Amino acid sequence: MAEIICVIGNKGGTGKTTLSHMLCQGLGLLNQKSVCVLTDLGREPLDPEGRRYLTADARSRDALAKVVEKIRGLNKWIGVIDGGANRSDMDRHLYSLAHLVLLPFRDSHEDIRTVQQDLEAFPRALALPMQWPTNPWAREAADRMIENQLGAYRNRILEPVFAISSSKVLLQKRIPDSLPSPLANACRRVASPVLDILRIDHDDVDIEAEDSVDDDMHAPTRSAAEATLSTH
Ligand SMILES: Nc1ncnc2c1ncn2[C@@H]1O[C@H](COP(=O)(O)OP(=O)(O)OP(=O)(O)O)[C@@H](O)[C@H]1O
Ligand SMILES: [Mg+2]
Repeated sequence: MAEIICVIGNKGGTGKTTLSHMLCQGLGLLNQKSVCVLTDLGREPLDPEGRRYLTADARSRDALAKVVEKIRGLNKWIGVIDGGANRSDMDRHLYSLAHLVLLPFRDSHEDIRTVQQDLEAFPRALALPMQWPTNPWAREAADRMIENQLGAYRNRILEPVFAISSSKVLLQKRIPDSLPSPLANACRRVASPVLDILRIDHDDVDIEAEDSVDDDMHAPTRSAAEATLSTH
């Protein structure tokens, strides 16, 4: 059976696209097959070459239906659907399709207010602190903000994904031949708990040990021909 994950939320710029791609890359590094699905009309499809996952263009409702149907027919694949901001109808539609729904939010009052509304609107969804500060003081303040303002949703908040500037590389149309190892490790850290939630067995990774390895991307990747999920 295939799993569908969607990354949604009403606020713009929270990190939906970044999270979708980090998650897919991490899934690939943990030997899971995944497809990152673009639904945002304002974005262009990214080149799948060199990534550990496929990409699919589902910017129209028709294409989305076809892509979802195709993913559902792929045994043990995971489809990660990247939503777009300010699209309540689309968010509701994606919510209805997905087994797991993630709502990234940043450490701002506005993001927290919005994610609170989204948590109410989508009772199965889980919130994920994104671009979380790494500086200990700032992190403590951000964690306190969650405790004070989202305390009631404590059991629906996942571990944070920290701010990592190299995450931008994954949003480049074409990614470089090798990715920085801190980024690869951050991707694995995102994917591992998601697999646990979906109860999908996966290899344990000793990320601390992996931090010293900088050739994560040297293993052969799929060819470009294999890597585009055709909707036709
Ligand atoms: N973990 C992170 N560390 C550092 N920068 C990040 C992280 N996540 C997102 N960003 C940056 O934040 C900005 C917004 O991210 P992204 O485009 O993923 O958000 P989005 O929710 O998809 O936006 P939109 O609502 O426009 O679709 C980008 O510049 C991205 O590089
Ligand atoms: Mg986006």
